[in-house]
Amino acid sequence: MVAARKASPLILGVGDNEYIIASDVSALVSRTQNVVYLRDGELLHITPTNFSIITQTDEDVSPVVNRVTWDIEAAELGNYSHFMEKEIFEQPAALENSMRGRFSEDGSTAQFGGLNISPVEFRQIDRLSLIGCGTAWHACLVTEHLVERFARIPVEVDYASEFRYRNTPLYGNPLFFVISQSGETIDTLGALREAKRKGYKILAINNTVGSSIAREADGGIYQHVGPEIGVASTKAFTSQLLIGSMIALYLARMRDMSFTDGVEYVKALKGAPDLVRKALEQAPHIREIAKRYSKYNDMLFLGRLSLFPVALEGALKLKEISYIHAEGYPAAEMKHGPIALISEQCPSVFFAPKGEIFNKLVSSIQEIKARKGKTIVITTEGCEFPAGLVDEIIYIPDCHEAVLPIVATIPVQLLSYYMAVERGCDVDKPRNLAKSVTVE
Ligand code: M6R
Repeated sequence: MVAARKASPLILGVGDNEYIIASDVSALVSRTQNVVYLRDGELLHITPTNFSIITQTDEDVSPVVNRVTWDIEAAELGNYSHFMEKEIFEQPAALENSMRGRFSEDGSTAQFGGLNISPVEFRQIDRLSLIGCGTAWHACLVTEHLVERFARIPVEVDYASEFRYRNTPLYGNPLFFVISQSGETIDTLGALREAKRKGYKILAINNTVGSSIAREADGGIYQHVGPEIGVASTKAFTSQLLIGSMIALYLARMRDMSFTDGVEYVKALKGAPDLVRKALEQAPHIREIAKRYSKYNDMLFLGRLSLFPVALEGALKLKEISYIHAEGYPAAEMKHGPIALISEQCPSVFFAPKGEIFNKLVSSIQEIKARKGKTIVITTEGCEFPAGLVDEIIYIPDCHEAVLPIVATIPVQLLSYYMAVERGCDVDKPRNLAKSVTVE
């Protein structure tokens, strides 16, 4: 067998008496943990007993066989019906793995090993540029909110596919981060190369050791959440939110955040796995809601501040696996257009947690109610609403802003999952989608 790599990824799995080729490690970890990552332009020749690699100019390549740390269990369903379900419920452990060893000894800030950029250089940056696609782009938006809120550094967020072609003017001393679970998304890789070509350092938040993005970035932070097999990103997303929140803390502590506030922030991050466990306890309740709402064809997802991107994520999750048309909006933007969609036929999922703008959120819900729209409200424990205002209510634990987006994501993941199951959809392999988008 002969295989060649051009642009899209190519991985050779070296198993027991077998060779396997794939574009993503998660496709072969159930057979072998020994893999060779091919570089662009390399040609692979496999015989029944051996393999060899050459370059386009006919030079021999000495292959490096890497050992993937993901284990076989991680790639098996176990007692779950779908990988998406398994990966949703794995999130407490995934978050623990993402943060392990990443707090300073004094417990007041975050620390990262592989950034390849000194604290002094970090101190000098005057803006952050965050780039990703799909769910990873939503993680960029949440990170933007947290970095601006806590570290007071301006942040720009771009779709990778737009960044690479729109030739955005760059100035000052920005630091680039790309976010990509697979590390193989071609648009994100293209954006990384474009930023590098302009002479900037670019770091990656990535879940796949050895991926193209991991190799081409100047440094980065691995997510360590194990393979994500369901096409719909779940545990990778909440881990990206966690790492984004840790970056906000790291930058904030270099600037105006006090030691005491830092300690409180770290405590909140360390508590995230337990908060997520608590949010997951709502699964049976959310399943019942999903049964009542699975026949609708349109839904809105509304949120504000850090939960606006979570609303976008909820809409994306629902549409990609259940094929229900869903849109996410900042709740207060409703009156500028989307409110025209509200009717008995179009329910809204509404994030209304405790906070300074709680009353504004309640009035937006009233506007929906006045137009006969049904509401599924996700709120924090202790919040109350006028009698008869909300149709369904889902409580999440009250928590620090640093972890709120993580905890608030759980109900929309569960809702999307159960709605898709109710509709008989192929949850893990939704139509027209691929796990790694390696084409433009
Ligand atoms: O591997 P990446 O994080 O770069 O993937 C980016 C998107 O393709 C991905 O998040 C996509 O939107 C998911 N299907 C969403 O669930």
